Amino acid sequence: KMKLAVLTSGGDSAGMNAVVRAVVKAAIIKGCETWIVREGYEGLVRGNGDSGDHRRQSLAEKTLTSPRELKTPEAPEEGFVHNLRYGDGELLKDGTSDHPGGRTLKGRYIVRVGWDDVRGWFSEGGTLIGTARSATFRTREGRLTATHNMIKEGIDALVVCGGDGSLTGADVFRAEWPGLVSELRQTGKISEEQAARHAHLKIVGLVGSIDNDMSMTDLTIGAPTALHRICESIDNINSTAYSHSRAFVLEVMGRHCGWLALMAGVSCGADFIFIPESPPDADHWADEMCKMIQSHRDVGKRKTIVIVAEGALDSKLQPIRSDHVKDILSERLGLDTRVTTLGHTQRGGRPCAIDRILPTLQGVEAVEALLEATPETPSYMIGVRENKITRVPLMDAVKMTREVADAINEKDFERAMSLRDPEFRE
Ligand code: F6P
Repeated sequence: KMKLAVLTSGGDSAGMNAVVRAVVKAAIIKGCETWIVREGYEGLVRGNGDSGDHRRQSLAEKTLTSPRELKTPEAPEEGFVHNLRYGDGELLKDGTSDHPGGRTLKGRYIVRVGWDDVRGWFSEGGTLIGTARSATFRTREGRLTATHNMIKEGIDALVVCGGDGSLTGADVFRAEWPGLVSELRQTGKISEEQAARHAHLKIVGLVGSIDNDMSMTDLTIGAPTALHRICESIDNINSTAYSHSRAFVLEVMGRHCGWLALMAGVSCGADFIFIPESPPDADHWADEMCKMIQSHRDVGKRKTIVIVAEGALDSKLQPIRSDHVKDILSERLGLDTRVTTLGHTQRGGRPCAIDRILPTLQGVEAVEALLEATPETPSYMIGVRENKITRVPLMDAVKMTREVADAINEKDFERAMSLRDPEFRE
């Protein structure tokens, strides 16, 4: 019986809960034991402390929680949200849990979950099991402890949902795993039998990120919702901008990727957009922007929207700063201009339909990929290309994503675009 754990890592994104729900439910249907890991890789490193393998604990000592409380292990006893149960039993029905309720999981990060624990999760924003950017897991020592904690719980398969950094971590972890296991065996921390059973780690990655910056997939989980948020904000800003005939400079997230800015610009009819992939001429962009905006004003446009991706650079690789853009619009065109940085409103909130459908389909695919995995098959990243759920070697996707970042740094934008989207070449 495969023992499968799922974690969310890096910046949260809408749809991560739908991933956890889909993975847990699909895995139960396929006969696996299911676990969640709180706080991303950090939870793997922290493990379950001295309580060790909870299956050895008496029933009375077993603890229940709503994963909403998981971030604060010290929280007092409280009722459940969603009537969530933490159970050994799969497919427990309401009111039939054999678990005492209400206590939080003090210091336990690797938690066995059942069907009902994830009920209704597809409509929840953020990630209910917590996420972190773990510094400890970046060290070999941290990964050794994580390996030990997983083996103590008997977990042999892992689903990681996160951005490129988190998936790079997954790739490193899988590659190192056999060495980590043999070190644990040599130091007597695990038995011969455990070492044999856990000789290989099955791991699969799902891309959860609002940035849509992963190569070899068309869409990352959370990006469509973030785009919706931006569009809503621009719609709101449009009405006030129109009223006062003002200009607004909107700064949007996306790290080194301009997808959110570009798509928001197209969706909302922005006047000018700055994205990292297409840096404007450092000496002329201000003239160009003013000319364009003035021409829009000349034909009677009462409002101006300029979108700046947070990672936007000019051709000399200097950041395009929203305040600077505002000053130019005010000073050169005499426009009454405001800056709005949308910030984390883009990241939070309920997932849109695409960010429920995609994680559900990909979550099921992830479980299937793990069940079919052999020591010879690569670890996969589950993606989507031309509306089809795909498996691509995690290593290739991670490598190509890094190469995109390098190409952008080297100002080789054509190469960057062709790596991000191989069809761009044709
Ligand atoms: O990668 C997701 C993202 O939201 C980026 O768009 C942004 O640059 C970054 O994370 C912000 O990270 P945080 O505020 O969590 O440190």
